[in-house]
Amino acid sequence: MHKFETRTVAPAKFLRGEIVVPGDKSISHRSIMFASLAKGVSRVRGLLRGEDCLSTLKAFQAMGIEVVEKGEDELIIQGRGLAGLQEPGDVIDCGNSGTTLRLMSGILAAQPFFSVLTGDQYLRKRPMGRVINPLTDMGARILGRDGNQKAPLAIDGGGLKPIEYHSPVASAQVKSAVLLAGMQIEGTTTIYEPHLSRDHSERMLRYFGADLESFEGGARVTGRVALEGREVDVPGDISSAAFFLVAGLIVPGSELLLKNVGVNPTRSGIIDILLQMGGSIEQLNPRELSGEPVADLLVKSSHLKGIEIGGELVPRAIDEFPVVSVAAAFAEGVTSIRDAKELRVKETDRIAAMCETLGRLGAQIEPREDGMQITGRQSLRGGKVNSFGDHRIAMSMAVAALCANAEVEIEDTGCTATSLPNFWELLTKIQA
Ligand code: S3P
Repeated sequence: MHKFETRTVAPAKFLRGEIVVPGDKSISHRSIMFASLAKGVSRVRGLLRGEDCLSTLKAFQAMGIEVVEKGEDELIIQGRGLAGLQEPGDVIDCGNSGTTLRLMSGILAAQPFFSVLTGDQYLRKRPMGRVINPLTDMGARILGRDGNQKAPLAIDGGGLKPIEYHSPVASAQVKSAVLLAGMQIEGTTTIYEPHLSRDHSERMLRYFGADLESFEGGARVTGRVALEGREVDVPGDISSAAFFLVAGLIVPGSELLLKNVGVNPTRSGIIDILLQMGGSIEQLNPRELSGEPVADLLVKSSHLKGIEIGGELVPRAIDEFPVVSVAAAFAEGVTSIRDAKELRVKETDRIAAMCETLGRLGAQIEPREDGMQITGRQSLRGGKVNSFGDHRIAMSMAVAALCANAEVEIEDTGCTATSLPNFWELLTKIQA
């Protein structure tokens, strides 16, 4: 559980400097999970030490996985193979992390033991039927609160058979849960999704040696193929870089270099959105790290204009809409966000949360069932807002505050440790 803290953010004169963006949250979770299920030693460098990933790490340690820290930046994980996990002695607490809970459901549904997954007050409100349904189709025995829709989930693992599943949502967490269950059983499991969601599981499972194929519209895995320990270098998180991209664009006279950012096309929707809005963002030094594309991003303050956002762009920028709404508040004209109903079931209802918090500072922002509409270029006033315990709302409001007319007091900011523990230090550094 994060600390309850209140922070005050003052308007910035300009932002300058270089930031090395901390490790990608999605890739960090997966590196711990897949290294634990692989045979032999894996070395993971650049892992994000955020609370969400630490929940995943503790869960695997509770199932007998040995992890040694080497220096500041490296973890050595002693994998035990697909059949090497031990029944956990207690309930597994996934904290605030939907990725931990949903991906682990897929892993544990196929393990021949009993396990219980729970999480904090926010995670226990989020929909879990989306993973329980396909796993139950595979033969899993999973019980949960609210008619098998919510955590805590009790899993009596084993006895699964492969399926072909058409997911109603473009969700990497659903896709990964199904692939991870399928990876452990005899036969071929296939998942189709309405739009391509982030493909880190597919890339990294292949890198660890799984028999997994991606195709237009989905992915399929043939199970019981051993994973082998690997070296993983985790790229910087584009979802963390996003706060500094928007800050650099909206605070006049700014120039920031964000180093080592993962630019996987299933995640780089935020760059496309900000470029379409007229933002100056250059990708420098493109390279590859452990099968993931990476670049340094140079951002300069720009005159932004409103745009329409919907369709396949939405899953490619799904975590960035809180900060996109901040960019839109400082853009000329109307920004319309559609097809983004998923925002209602994130760490909080992010449509309601951004309308409430940005609206409180005077932004013209209207909710829609599946998105929001923002009329930009009004100046924001100072005031007091609340993060709703959601890390991305807290950081988005800090970015908005840099461009407001007066100080903004943000309540409940300890949640930034979920995904970006050094956010406040980085924010101070670029104002020096
Ligand atoms: C994640 C997938 C996304 C994203 C979340 C992390 C992942 O959720 O919002 O922060 O690591 O797979 P959905 O797949 O449910 O959209």
